[in-house]
Amino acid sequence: MKHLMLACLLAFVSFVPKTSIGAEDVRELKVVMEEMGNIFKALGKSVAQGKVGATELASARQLVKLVEESATLLPDLSSFPDRAVATQRYLDLNKQLLVVMKDAEAAISRADASAALDALEAAKELRTIGHDEFKL
Ligand code: HEM
Repeated sequence: MKHLMLACLLAFVSFVPKTSIGAEDVRELKVVMEEMGNIFKALGKSVAQGKVGATELASARQLVKLVEESATLLPDLSSFPDRAVATQRYLDLNKQLLVVMKDAEAAISRADASAALDALEAAKELRTIGHDEFKL
């Protein structure tokens, strides 16, 4: 009887779809940043050429989502003397980046290439600050 129950349990577990397990859906910051980097680069090129259409809007919206995702993750903070302060700083920079990405999205949605470029430039500055402070 015990064996039968065990067999049933194993059969059940093996049928649970893997996508329903939460922990596997949490991506590493590095992976999120990589995706952000690729989309950001392509979007920057397009907007610099004056392209502010549906493709660019979709990219900007994806970037907003990725920044939101990166706010749920933390970098390696082991080298920081005060973990709470470092966490606050990371989240603050992240919030600034979110504001700027939403500005870019709004500018693209009204086909304002110049304002979109300004917002992407501000995002670049935040990227430099964030990477200087947290990557090494
Ligand atoms: C436009 C904005 C940004 C872009 C496009 C961007 C892109 C990237 C890219 C391409 C990487 C390298 C991933 C790899 O190792 O291959 C990276 C890593 C990283 N970025 Fe950003 N980033 C941005 C903003 C920020 C900000 C504002 C912060 C901090 C608040 C930040 C924190 C980090 C950290 C900590 C890593 C290292 C992650 C790891 O290897 O675990 N980034 N980012």
